Amino acid sequence: MKSEKIEIDMARLQSQIDELALISENPPPVVTRILFSEADLRGRAFVKKLAAEAGLKVRQDAIGNIFIQWTGQNPKLPAVATGSHIDAIPNAGKFDGVVGVLGPIEAIRALQRAGVNPERSIEVIVFTAEEPTRFGIGCVGSRLLAGTLAPEKAALLKDRDGKSLESWREQVGWANEHLRSVRLASNCFSAFVELHIEQGPLLEKENLPIGVVERIAAPSTLRLALTGVGGHAGGTLMPGRRDALLAGAEVALAVEKAALNSGSPDTVATTGIFRIEPGAVNSVPCKAHLEIDLRDTQTRTRDGAMAQIERDVGTICERRGVQFELERVATDPPVTCDPRLVNLIAETCSTLRLPFKRMVSRAYHDSSFMAQICPTVMIFIPCRNGWSHRPDEYASPEQIKTGVTVLAHTLASLASEL
Ligand code: GLV
Ligand code: MN
Ligand code: MN
Repeated sequence: MKSEKIEIDMARLQSQIDELALISENPPPVVTRILFSEADLRGRAFVKKLAAEAGLKVRQDAIGNIFIQWTGQNPKLPAVATGSHIDAIPNAGKFDGVVGVLGPIEAIRALQRAGVNPERSIEVIVFTAEEPTRFGIGCVGSRLLAGTLAPEKAALLKDRDGKSLESWREQVGWANEHLRSVRLASNCFSAFVELHIEQGPLLEKENLPIGVVERIAAPSTLRLALTGVGGHAGGTLMPGRRDALLAGAEVALAVEKAALNSGSPDTVATTGIFRIEPGAVNSVPCKAHLEIDLRDTQTRTRDGAMAQIERDVGTICERRGVQFELERVATDPPVTCDPRLVNLIAETCSTLRLPFKRMVSRAYHDSSFMAQICPTVMIFIPCRNGWSHRPDEYASPEQIKTGVTVLAHTLASLASEL
């Protein structure tokens, strides 16, 4: 294979990224594509159309993970997998996940143009619900593939309207197959490589085009339901009030404090959801619903902060006479990427004369779960100011092209292994 022949058609890729961004629940530049929304379903159809235009085989599993295959000469060998997600949280941008889905389709086209004839098949996976927006838990598709979320438990996941995952599957026509069928055998892929924007500022600050991810930080999510006592905002005197919002406000401050005092600069904690009932200006809030995201590169300090938050919730609610239900929605370990794949990408960068850095991913990814069934690695590209999960998220065509080029070379080399 002559590496100089692998040439990414960035104009086409950019126009596909721009077109997908218009499939959104909100007007541009905002991208919102929540699982099972009309935008999510149209986004999936758009990606399938691109795959078909590239002459690739498409199949979908019972949770809606899409597998796009370029069949190798030796299809019995475990395939090389790549991919990411196209769902987007409310008020997001157009690159998170998308670069790792549309990028690989263009990488395959570039390999085809370069006359590469891979031994192993190459599969692009579009994972369902990497984002936790609908069901409160992220990476639903990859957790089911890896077997770290029980199908019976997944089926019962409920969204904020009380509608279950199983009812949604029925509504969108995915329920012909049982969720149990999603799980993959641990030898079904020889490797998984995810291309993603960094979602942090380091590559841009150091003026580096590529990051090779060695570790993915440990995420966790807590859900807290607070029940106080409501009443008339004029008639209920201040002493003895049991205001659910105020208990929640104290909890949110305790969450911040637990991260700041964890003993690790890597602990980060966010109360990203805070809803109250009844939500009337002249009514004391009787209910509050909080969702808390807590992460760290090390489990010890993450879990220490979690235990502190749990103690503080108890103390605050007791003092305020507010009842609580606290649930650990997810507590995932940190992930170590495969050292051989890390070195392979480092060598690819050296061959292409691209400076790079080995780094930690502070965001979680479907890679965290793919790593449990096959050797896994991630390729990062910079994004402006490290911004992500906001509409002004941006990676330049040049930055994306470089990432897709490294991915294409990596896939070609993994798919040539016998
Ligand atoms: C993924 O979107 C994350 O929240 O890390
Ligand atoms: Mn995201
Ligand atoms: Mn992502």
